[in-house]
Amino acid sequence: MKKGLKKLMALGLVAVLAVGMAGCGSKKEEKASSAGATKIEQIKKDGKLIVGTSPDYPPFEFIISEDGKSKIVGADIELAQKFADKLGVKLEIKSMDFDSLLPALQSDVVDLVITGMTPDETRKKSVDFTDIYFTGKNGVIVKESDAGKVKSEDDLKKMKIGVQKGSTQEIYVKDQLKLTDYKALTSVPDLVMDLKNGNIDAVVLNDKVASINAGKYDGVKVVENLALTSGGDEELMAVAVKKGDNKELLAALNEEIKTLKDSGEYDKILANAVDQVSKEKK
Ligand code: ARG
Repeated sequence: MKKGLKKLMALGLVAVLAVGMAGCGSKKEEKASSAGATKIEQIKKDGKLIVGTSPDYPPFEFIISEDGKSKIVGADIELAQKFADKLGVKLEIKSMDFDSLLPALQSDVVDLVITGMTPDETRKKSVDFTDIYFTGKNGVIVKESDAGKVKSEDDLKKMKIGVQKGSTQEIYVKDQLKLTDYKALTSVPDLVMDLKNGNIDAVVLNDKVASINAGKYDGVKVVENLALTSGGDEELMAVAVKKGDNKELLAALNEEIKTLKDSGEYDKILANAVDQVSKEKK
C-alpha cells in the first residue's frame, strides 16, 4: 500500500513536470508566432526566401538573357533554390551592388546573402555565416602584354590594382599588400573594362571568375603560377544570415550544404554553371 502510494506520487510528480514543460513550450511558441518569430518561421509564413546577390561573379552569380529577358543564374542561385526547396518555399532573387548586400540583410530587405561571400572576422561581428560551401582561391588578371611580367606579390605591388569595393580582395590589397593607391569599384565588369582601357594594371578576384573573364574579353589574361602568399590565396564562401533568432535556419542551411557537398552534387552545380557561362558567350 505504502509502496503503491509512493509510486502514485512519483507518477503525479512526473505528470506535473510534463505539464509544466508543455506550458513552457507553448509559451515559447506563442512568442515566436507574434513579433519575435524565428527567422525560419518568418520565411515559412511568407512562403518565400529572399536572397540578395551581386550578379557580377560568374560562375557563382551572373546574368544571362533568355527569351529577350535577363535572368540571374549561377551556382549560388542553384544553391539558393536548394535552400528554398528544403524550406518548402518559393525563391526570390534580389540583385544588388556587392557593398549594399550586408546592410540589406541587416534591415530585413533580404533573408540571406549568397554571393561568394567570405566569412571574415569583421563581417562576423555584424552577421552570422553558415558553414563553408566552397573553398576557392584568388587569382589575378592583367592585360595580355603584362602577363609575363608578374611573377610575385612584389611585382603586383608595383602595379595599379583594381578590386571590388567592400570585398575581401580590397582588404587583402589594403591591409596585406599595404597599398593605398589602388582602385575599388562597385562592379567586377567595370574593373575588367578599366583593365582593358589601361586605367588599372591588374584585378584581384576569385580564380574561376578570373579565368571566365579572361576567356570572355580579348586582351585579358590570368597570371599563371602566382602565389598570393600574404594571405590572399584562399577565398572561402559561405551564406550570410542576419544575427538574431536564426539557429534553426542556420541548422537547416548547414544540413543542406553538407548533403550537397558530401554527395558531390555541389561540384555538379558548379560545373553546370561554368558550362552555362561558356554557352552564353557564343
Ligand atoms: N569573396 C569575396 C568577398 O566576400 C568576393 C565576393 C564577390 N562576390 C560577388 N558576387 N561579386 O568579399
